[in-house]
Amino acid sequence: MTQINQISIQNFRNCGHLHCDLSAGLNLIIGDNAAGKTSLIEAIWVLATGRSFRTAKSQHLIQRDFESSTLFAEVTSSHSRHKMHRLGLQKSLTQTLLRLDGETLKSQAALAQLLPVQLLTPESHKLLEEGPKARRQFMDWGCFHQSPEFMPLWRHYQRGLKQRNYALKRHLPKVQVQLWDQTLVENALKIDLIRQRYLERLTPYLITFCQALMPEIKEEVVCQYRAGWPKATEDLLALYADSYQKESHLGHTQYGAHRADIRFKFGTQEALNTLSRGQQKLFVCALLLAQASLHEKVLQEPVIMLIDDLPAELDETHRRKLLELLQILNIQHVITSTSASLIPILNPETTRVWTIDSGQLSLQS
Ligand SMILES: Nc1ncnc2c1ncn2[C@@H]1O[C@H](COP(=O)(O)OP(=O)(O)OP(=O)(O)O)[C@@H](O)[C@H]1O
Ligand SMILES: [Mg+2]
Repeated sequence: MTQINQISIQNFRNCGHLHCDLSAGLNLIIGDNAAGKTSLIEAIWVLATGRSFRTAKSQHLIQRDFESSTLFAEVTSSHSRHKMHRLGLQKSLTQTLLRLDGETLKSQAALAQLLPVQLLTPESHKLLEEGPKARRQFMDWGCFHQSPEFMPLWRHYQRGLKQRNYALKRHLPKVQVQLWDQTLVENALKIDLIRQRYLERLTPYLITFCQALMPEIKEEVVCQYRAGWPKATEDLLALYADSYQKESHLGHTQYGAHRADIRFKFGTQEALNTLSRGQQKLFVCALLLAQASLHEKVLQEPVIMLIDDLPAELDETHRRKLLELLQILNIQHVITSTSASLIPILNPETTRVWTIDSGQLSLQS
């Protein structure tokens, strides 16, 4: 089991001092608007990923009139054969310090491995309607956890891309731009294979969860993967060479793994054009459920599901169905809501209910 046993938060948003011993099952946090629900979910996300889903600026995360925020969690992780770990993160205006079991860390990757978290917020439907970045991040989350070679490849690719873009931006001669092509293409093709394999594995789970959450849709969902270069390309290196004029004019690399995307379709219709807003939310829930199930199946390692403001825009029937499916997954959940209406649907044996007010948590049951 991967779970957060306890979490302590200091001077993060409106949480001055917050400590809680979480249930290994479902934790429901109930609070009014501005009570601190999203802040709590955000704190766990920041500890696991190093960044916020609301802001890029540390000053917004640090409680007003304080100089730093500290987050601490005691975690049991399947990734390290169920060992207990102490994870710490301190953010000041100028730096982020990471600690694992008393040692200082240079990169976030070790914390992300120990604490695989998934996030659903009222903004999550944007995964469908916004640009490809969010869809790439979704896909790459799975690639990162399932293929240890993915992260080094991606970093290597990014470094090459940065250099190549620099050369293009300065309109350097073709030979200088081409210095980077070989490694960029090699890494892009490897990244491409990992992504394809991941989506192939994910799709059957996605089909199952879409059918369970939206039985009214008769067509099966189809994931169309786009590599980041034209489908008919046989030689990516040649494509790079041929694109020099145009790319030098644009000042950046037009094709590559950094431009990958996924199109989701039901029959011939794009998901975005055919689903209602509520269905879009359910679809994103299906994506996360599929990802969590695949993660468990392949790595025998449960993820932790963070859900902010669960009932938003879902009707009673779909909300019940979603909670039923979440609870079947048998993983740890931290779910926030403004209303107590979810309580009767939850399994009392595995659920802990908390209320939050002005950044202070109290255990209800
Ligand atoms: N850096 C900060 N320092 C102090 N307070 C902050 C800081 N950032 C945000 N807040 C405040 O924290 C409070 C809690 O915000 P949060 O978004 O967590 O509320 P919420 O419970 O999720 O509300 P809602 O139901 O409206 O989504 C708000 O009053 C907000 O103004
Ligand atoms: Mg909120």
